[in-house]
Amino acid sequence: MPTDTAESPRTSVLFVCLGNICRSPLAEAIFQQLVVEAGLEEKFDIESAGTGAWHVGERPDARAEMVANQHGVQLLSRARQLTDQDLEHFDFVIAMDRENLRGIERMADAIGSDAEVRLLRDFDSEGAGDDVPDPYYGGASGFESVYDMIHRSCKGLLDRLKSV
Ligand code: 4NP
Repeated sequence: MPTDTAESPRTSVLFVCLGNICRSPLAEAIFQQLVVEAGLEEKFDIESAGTGAWHVGERPDARAEMVANQHGVQLLSRARQLTDQDLEHFDFVIAMDRENLRGIERMADAIGSDAEVRLLRDFDSEGAGDDVPDPYYGGASGFESVYDMIHRSCKGLLDRLKSV
């Protein structure tokens, strides 16, 4: 991973859901695209992970990939599980829902992590503080609404982190 320098401190952001094949890969790719569009790619390290291990090594869910592609976003991640090292390394750990948030906070407390752990939709201009619902067991329309709320929230998050 790139290291910070005094001239160019980087902010590291990890998006976390349950399986790391639907919501957090979308958040990772959408946030990355917003960062590139803002010309800030030198300022951020962005990854995603899941609290569960069921899908480790897999590509994102085909429905997530489809909705991303429809919006001109490519999903390049492979699923991996959240580790204690993540909570030592990342500045911001962003949970998709409250269940993820609780799991992350338990791990973070156990190791005395300094990471700022937040809910993604705390940064949503509509529905701040709500969960990004798990779309895995639903249909394609669930992925479209999840895309929209993640996109809005990532915009809000970037506005917040630009000033960090
Ligand atoms: P994600 O969705 O947490 O947004 O990646 C899920 C993916 C897989 C499962 C649950 C949620 N699963 O139970 O396998």
